[in-house]
Amino acid sequence: MKTKWTLSEVASQKGKVYIVTGGNSGIGYETVRELAKLDATVIMASRNQERATNAKEEILKTVPDASIDIILIDLANMDSIHNFAKVFKDKYNQLDGLVNNAGVMFTPYRETDDGFEYQNGINHLGHFLLTNLLFDQLKETKSSRIVTISSMAHKFGKINFDNYLFEKKGSYSKIKSYGQSKLSNLLFTFELDRRLRNQNIDIKALAAHPGGAKTNLTRAAHGFFSRIFDLFSQSAFKGALPTLRALLDEDAKSGEYYGPSGFLEIKGDPVIVKPRKKAYNKLDAKKLWLKSEELTNKRFIIE
Ligand SMILES: NC(=O)c1ccc[n+]([C@@H]2O[C@H](COP(=O)([O-])OP(=O)(O)OC[C@H]3O[C@@H](n4cnc5c(N)ncnc54)[C@H](OP(=O)(O)O)[C@@H]3O)[C@@H](O)[C@H]2O)c1
Repeated sequence: MKTKWTLSEVASQKGKVYIVTGGNSGIGYETVRELAKLDATVIMASRNQERATNAKEEILKTVPDASIDIILIDLANMDSIHNFAKVFKDKYNQLDGLVNNAGVMFTPYRETDDGFEYQNGINHLGHFLLTNLLFDQLKETKSSRIVTISSMAHKFGKINFDNYLFEKKGSYSKIKSYGQSKLSNLLFTFELDRRLRNQNIDIKALAAHPGGAKTNLTRAAHGFFSRIFDLFSQSAFKGALPTLRALLDEDAKSGEYYGPSGFLEIKGDPVIVKPRKKAYNKLDAKKLWLKSEELTNKRFIIE
């Protein structure tokens, strides 16, 4: 296995179409910009028109011929996810890569428009539904990829099937909730990979995490935590490299997980990293798949 990879070895992506959720900020923004530099067409899937337009204009300053299309999506609203998929399918006949990147962290208890606890609703369930709705396009496109962004926080994550959305009164913990959502991202990726391989489908499912990267993510966790975090973290660009490697490295294989090479995977070059064993738990992955189908009100059949 080669361990080194740089963006400079990536061939032109002209003619390819990518979707990046949360593409207006942080890791997503850097991912959109690098894909645009490589001449790809990139759909910036954002929840706010103004923030997305500003981000696109910022990229155009350094990549004047960037092909960036903004399509609005609110992952906290299932109608909006359905609408995004419809608008996308009306405009495009192919999808080379879907980057399930958008996320929220450590938010006080609140619910999505569909009544799901917010972090698990956006970080996992929204992306589960989006992937399901775009699956046909991914399948029709040769060698397409689905890259889902997890976190080191999956390590303290635990899936509580009896209380997945923290329905029990007083049970909510913003840290436990974030950990569960990020473990869900990995269980989903590895289950998706197994189902794709079983059916010999030409789509790769991979995961990535940025280590600690300076973005807007720590908004809800002000004060001491974000100051310490900023001290030790890397740039958003460096944080986007594991995503970009999972998406673009020709040698990357389905089922792989990329993150930074350094101490505790906080900083460094993008390499294959090992998740905790619980991320490979097949029973949990199956149960989570069923639960996600039930909550998003749509079967996700891989065939
Ligand atoms: N930064 C880190 O150190 C770190 C570490 C581990 C994992 N991660 C993961 O990296 C991913 C990207 O985060 P980031 O660090 O780049 O944070 P960020 O700068 O806050 O970006 C998050 C993006 O997600 C979008 N988003 C949030 N809720 C959404 C919704 N309901 N619908 C659509 N988009 C929504 C945000 O939109 P708005 O701009 O409109 O809010 C923003 O574009 C997340 O999955 C996060 O869990 C980050």
